[in-house]
Amino acid sequence: MLPTIAWHEDNIVMVDQRKLPAHEVYVTCKTVHDVAKAIKTMVIRGAPAIGVCAAMGLALGAARSKATGTKQFTTEFQRTCDLLATTRPTAVNLFWAIERMKRSFAEGALAGESVDQLRARLRAEADRIHDEDVASCRSIGAHGATLVPAEARILTHCNAGALATAGYGTALGVIRGAVEAGRKVHVLADETRPFLQGSRLTAWELMRDGIETTVITDNMAGSIMLAGEIDLVVVGADRIAANGDTANKIGTYPVAVLAKEHGIPFYVAAPWSTIDLATADGSAIPIEERDRREVTHVGNTQLAPDGAPVRNPSFDVTPHRFITAIITERGIFRPPFAETLANLREERS
Ligand code: MRU
Repeated sequence: MLPTIAWHEDNIVMVDQRKLPAHEVYVTCKTVHDVAKAIKTMVIRGAPAIGVCAAMGLALGAARSKATGTKQFTTEFQRTCDLLATTRPTAVNLFWAIERMKRSFAEGALAGESVDQLRARLRAEADRIHDEDVASCRSIGAHGATLVPAEARILTHCNAGALATAGYGTALGVIRGAVEAGRKVHVLADETRPFLQGSRLTAWELMRDGIETTVITDNMAGSIMLAGEIDLVVVGADRIAANGDTANKIGTYPVAVLAKEHGIPFYVAAPWSTIDLATADGSAIPIEERDRREVTHVGNTQLAPDGAPVRNPSFDVTPHRFITAIITERGIFRPPFAETLANLREERS
């Protein structure tokens, strides 16, 4: 399986996703500041991977802390939580993971654990978050496979694969699950302007797995759907509001609208840590604006005139009415999502 993120000699090592597919280079994070920078600069990206990385970063920060007393250790832990929370605003898994680490810390502190015990507890919780993410993806894959016909041409957008999770992937987990269940699958990977996660990362990881993949530019999806050459769409998510509205990589919404127009099922695959029941609908989801250079340049090649005004919202929100089903490790949720996801709320509490 792809090595998205792992411990190595008590440091965190991750594949540099900015350099793929041309170069397979690994970045070593020795401090929580290195981890924050890696998330912010997209060395590691994808909502579940960001959450796992933040949890591991908090464990790393605790391991590196020179504090001997609980009071100073607690203050430092709180600071590292605040630091990591500023890295990327849309992926709710980041905040989910930080909250989970805080809960674990609070439990230990309440039980009177020593600084060393708290360090060990944080490391164990981060490792659980990592391993649970892989398990969730596999379960999403198994559920999602049941929605894939014997032969399927599947469109996906961005990269919701092993690289975007601790391993296996969400949308690509569904594709992997379908292949493992014996379906004959051909994937169409939207290149995903401006950061090109589809052409650079999705095509790379699927081709490594020997899964047939064709890269298309984002503006080709409509005519290929009209030609009847796409059977279903599956994408990941950065945040799913209580009513099912889904934030995902910019360009997902137009794909969903096209799918509806052409009568093609549009599935969202995500772990339950991506479902944000505290956010009523998509209008309340914060959308990250990224550096203009992602739009004006590819690598060092300039694509727009100097000083050209640029917009770069990194995500869009697909209203729930365009979504056929949401595939989670808990099963497949169908509309009305406000009701079916509310049942999930009851199960979680
Ligand atoms: O900006 P990115 O590359 O972090 O955006 C990633 C996406 O939008 C993914 O589709 C989403 O996080 C789901 S990943 C399983």
